[in-house]
Amino acid sequence: MSRVAYVNGRYVPHRQASVHVEDRGYQFADGIYEVCTVRDGVPMEEKGHLDRLERSLREMRIDMPMSRAAFSLAMRETIRRNLVTNGIVYLQVTRGVSPRDHAFPTKKIRPAVVMTARNAKAHPAAWLEDGVKAITMPDIRWGRCDIKTVGLLPNCFAKQAARENGAYETILYDDKGVVTEGSSSNAWIVTEAGVLVTRAPSNEILNGVTRLELIKLAAAEGLKFEERSFTLDELRRAREAFVTSASSFVMPVTQVDDKTVANGKPGAVATKLRAALMAHMEKQVAAAQA
Ligand code: PDD
Repeated sequence: MSRVAYVNGRYVPHRQASVHVEDRGYQFADGIYEVCTVRDGVPMEEKGHLDRLERSLREMRIDMPMSRAAFSLAMRETIRRNLVTNGIVYLQVTRGVSPRDHAFPTKKIRPAVVMTARNAKAHPAAWLEDGVKAITMPDIRWGRCDIKTVGLLPNCFAKQAARENGAYETILYDDKGVVTEGSSSNAWIVTEAGVLVTRAPSNEILNGVTRLELIKLAAAEGLKFEERSFTLDELRRAREAFVTSASSFVMPVTQVDDKTVANGKPGAVATKLRAALMAHMEKQVAAAQA
């Protein structure tokens, strides 16, 4: 099967898919993206992802390049043409092509829209049975982490550090030792007192679509929940820790740097919420296929 990419309204062979060298996404990271889980060929939480895409574009002062319905159609077609069953679909919108100048072009230009989709392997059983390791690092990102921009270099540095330390994720903290989020995920704990905690949305974190859904699922499970910041110290003393994203779902963290979290096994809350999230995705698949 040869992969296909969507580029500005056309489906082209993946290997030949390209944008112009003066695309502002390439020169200035002047663009935004979304990563959406695909289950059984169906994009998950489509509304949440399109809501956030629209919000990111608004904050960047980039016009919606096409309607939500057109995004939805192109996403589905990209998934279909790449024979994706379980994996991800990636959407990217950059401001467009213009002679290099830091300021936005004065002339109206067409935003560039790119989509790709691929299958992903299921998470290894060991990650779910034993949990994963996270390391921690100072958050050196900018002041608008709420916008899902393609400007991800500090996130890449953080993820690379995780790789080099045999860890799954890097959890970032600010200059007061307060956790912000993961390099590509939101961070959660269950406190010593048994309260589920994740940080409130602000310009310091990305408001994860998985995060938003999990808050609803936690309420349905009747879990004690607080939306507030927590410190590195609380993370180290937590009864449970986990990260969430469109590609991690709910990933239990059982080691933070050199410290084992609680008894070193995934906790009951993370396990329950992961199951609830998987069931919620199955429902979306069933609804789409009905
Ligand atoms: N990352 N925080 C950051 C910095 C992220 O990059 C992501 C997602 C999240 C979780 O958001 P969501 O639940 O909507 O996936 C939080 C995606 C998966 C990525 O960049 O690949």
